[in-house]
Amino acid sequence: MSYTKPEIIKAHSALAAEFESLTEKKQILRSKTLESLYGALRALPNDQKATYGKELNALKTEIMSWLNKVQDNQEQLPPIDVTAPFDVNTSKDEKQMLLPVTQGSIHPLMTELQYIVDIFGRMGFEAVESRQIDDDYHMFESLNFPEGHPARDDYDTFMTTDGLIAPAHTSTMQNRVLSERKKNLEAGEAIAVVIPDRVFRNEDLDVTHEHTFYQFEGVYVDKNITVGNLIATLKTFMSEYFGQDLKAKIQPFYFPFTEPSFEFAIERPDSLKKGDTEADQWLELLGCGMIHPNVLKAAGIDPTVYTGFAWGCGIERLVMMKNSIEDIRHFESGKLDFLRQFS
Ligand code: DAH
Repeated sequence: MSYTKPEIIKAHSALAAEFESLTEKKQILRSKTLESLYGALRALPNDQKATYGKELNALKTEIMSWLNKVQDNQEQLPPIDVTAPFDVNTSKDEKQMLLPVTQGSIHPLMTELQYIVDIFGRMGFEAVESRQIDDDYHMFESLNFPEGHPARDDYDTFMTTDGLIAPAHTSTMQNRVLSERKKNLEAGEAIAVVIPDRVFRNEDLDVTHEHTFYQFEGVYVDKNITVGNLIATLKTFMSEYFGQDLKAKIQPFYFPFTEPSFEFAIERPDSLKKGDTEADQWLELLGCGMIHPNVLKAAGIDPTVYTGFAWGCGIERLVMMKNSIEDIRHFESGKLDFLRQFS
């Protein structure tokens, strides 16, 4: 529509400029310019009202069409994907994110545990999880610590009022693993299991003692298994773990659940050598032995037919040596500045 009335022509361009500048576009309907045009209409003599009114209506229709166009454009904006990361929905000029995002990282103990389980996996051992609450039978009885046995004192841990126990070692799983796999054993398949998990002890805390820590247990049973197999298995694992062929030795020790029992030591790997002192020669790493006949019997396995070996090794000490960590308490502290060093 082309307008003929000079006031309307003037108002048209004023309104167009005003519309452009408004953020809330609907406000144009309340514009003073528009209001004064209606005021002028009312003041006109009757015979002039028709043509003026027609042009004013046309102007109003045009303004409505501006508004509709804006609304259509808004409806055509791409929908926001609320599941997408922020930068998908953010235009290039407003790069800044609304929420800060920091990448987490795997806990150093879990990285190590995975590495250990991978090596044993390649050696034919299946990984089985332990549990973090257990009972007297699995913690002691089935492991040849009868009621009142003095060695129970070496495994002082936490107990619920109902007598459930936070396990002090991963050996609690031996009876379960042996009982479950007895059938396969009798069908000719050796039992070869590695059991990593969290354990608990009532300790006086210091830089090398923590109430919560990790161990990995190993259990191997078949016919004709000897101490030679035990040493060979652990020596192979340690050489792979430290990336260097290492000498190994055992020395006598005592555990109720193994007979004979040993402490297992390896020659100190090059990466961990400090000087050329006596203490630099050997690293005592774990307890092990030939599974006691009573432990096999408790799982229904005939100790005159089958023999086996087992071991239990702490994980923190390995990670501490590898990374020169000075205090075991860092692992459970939840301190981000410690954890971020491993990301
Ligand atoms: N459970 C023992 C401990 O935590 C370690 C251990 C020693 C585990 C000998 C074994 C083993 O399976 O045969 O002190």
